Amino acid sequence: MILPILEVKAAPAKGADTDIVAVYQDAAKKAIPPKGPYLATVGKFRKSEGFAGRSGSVQSIPFAGKGGAKHALFVGMGPAGELTEEKARNAGGNAFQKLLTEKSTGAVVRLDSLFGGRGLDRDLTETRLARAFAEGLLLGAYKYDKHKSAPKEKPKGKSHGPARITFVLKDKVLSEQVAMELAIVQATAEAMRVTRDWSNEPSNHGTPEYFAEDAKRLAKEYGLKCTILTEAHAAKEKMGLFLGVGQGSDVEGRIVVLEYTPKKVAGKNPEKKSKDMKTIAFVGKGVTFDSGGISIKPSMKMEDMKHDMTGAATVMGGILLASQMKIQNRIIAIMAFTENMPSGNAIQPGNVLTSRAGKTVEIINTDAEGRLVLADVLDYAQDFKPDAIIDVATLTGAVMVALGKMCCGIMGNDEELIQAVRRAGEDNGERVWQLPLFDDYFDDLRSDYADMKNSANDPLGGTIRGAIFLKQFIKKGVRWAHLDIAATAWSVTHLSYIPKRGASGLFVRTLAKFASDFS
Ligand code: BES
Ligand code: MN
Ligand code: ZN
Repeated sequence: MILPILEVKAAPAKGADTDIVAVYQDAAKKAIPPKGPYLATVGKFRKSEGFAGRSGSVQSIPFAGKGGAKHALFVGMGPAGELTEEKARNAGGNAFQKLLTEKSTGAVVRLDSLFGGRGLDRDLTETRLARAFAEGLLLGAYKYDKHKSAPKEKPKGKSHGPARITFVLKDKVLSEQVAMELAIVQATAEAMRVTRDWSNEPSNHGTPEYFAEDAKRLAKEYGLKCTILTEAHAAKEKMGLFLGVGQGSDVEGRIVVLEYTPKKVAGKNPEKKSKDMKTIAFVGKGVTFDSGGISIKPSMKMEDMKHDMTGAATVMGGILLASQMKIQNRIIAIMAFTENMPSGNAIQPGNVLTSRAGKTVEIINTDAEGRLVLADVLDYAQDFKPDAIIDVATLTGAVMVALGKMCCGIMGNDEELIQAVRRAGEDNGERVWQLPLFDDYFDDLRSDYADMKNSANDPLGGTIRGAIFLKQFIKKGVRWAHLDIAATAWSVTHLSYIPKRGASGLFVRTLAKFASDFS
């Protein structure tokens, strides 16, 4: 599928069948009729249908607009004083779902209604508001239908819903600012589409080789440097843990390294000298299928373990988006793809493997494979001398027990870095919550046979233990944070602009914003 195109115009485009109109609430929690031709319609509507403009609500009614509109789609914004970016994003997501049920082929957003109902003494600027609303619309437009046969009337490669959404505004200066925001939204949705497509891809198609090839294609398109390591390269690098995880599988692992180096942009950060440029390493877990290996998982929902490469997919989306934002730091994205399968060649509990860093690991549970994969690539990432490392992984089921589905867990060795990631998340409505990383959590990972065990075989504190294992591979003085996205990567149901089933694409925006702000 392709995503709708967002544009700004002074007047509605021809052929748009739906006018999207934001409706705020007054102090009595009643809908404030928006100015313009909708006044009478809303008045009627208020009486007959009880549309109150409540945040989260949408209503579509027949309306004959100038440009040929057949529907007015009223989107409830709630009281102006309670509006947040996240509410605006959700309003956009709800609006898009309604466009789908109305089978709209072209829509118009009346920006005057979105801007008009607000109080003026707010930090929420018009451009931020337009951006959040647009983001909700466009992120809500994603659909994964790659493996469905196309019905005759709906050929493949078409957008899902309207092909174009026009934001209408007369003010010229503001229009230019909104157009810049819409360009970022478009880039965001494109980057997150890659993440979601990768994450949703079934593992018989989405093999390590597939992702490496797709990364190569995208690197070319986005102007990034791409290096691919095969298992032979990994063997030369002595990545015993990464190779151990994949040795039970018939598909070969790959490590993909992408590099973004900023070009000098006229007018943008002109004072930033190259000596001020920082290097950030993003490291992603890319287990293309996690059966658990010999410590096999129960079959209930095992099909969802095709998304165990979402850390890598998120890192991919993050570097793509950052490159489109033309950020002024250097990024190295390292994605480690392999498959965890039981077989006659698979690693077994009790085996001892040697990591790239030279430390030995006793395998207690072959299902604690993500930390093995990451340990070797985290060690590799440090060769690039990064100023900060962020790893992203669907590492533990325990993070869902600890925090639920509405935020991701963060741990690391540098408080400032953790707070920077948290702030970048907050800026995008993506919640990041810190868990402690006390060093004595490592006590349960001490082994009689090797330098450490990969699992304590104790379900308590599983997320912290996963992180404390990773920490053993971070050298002194290297700033590092670990994002456990096992809860937020898949089947997120509380946001209107995220698919209820399958890949969410969450934290792509956080990574790009973090990389942009890091100094
Ligand atoms: N990929 C899983 C974690 C996971 C579970 C991600 C559910 C998404 C949804 C990971 O490899 C795993 O199996 N972790 C184990 C660790 C344990 C064996 C120490 C877990 O969480 O049970
Ligand atoms: Mn596992
Ligand atoms: Zn896993």
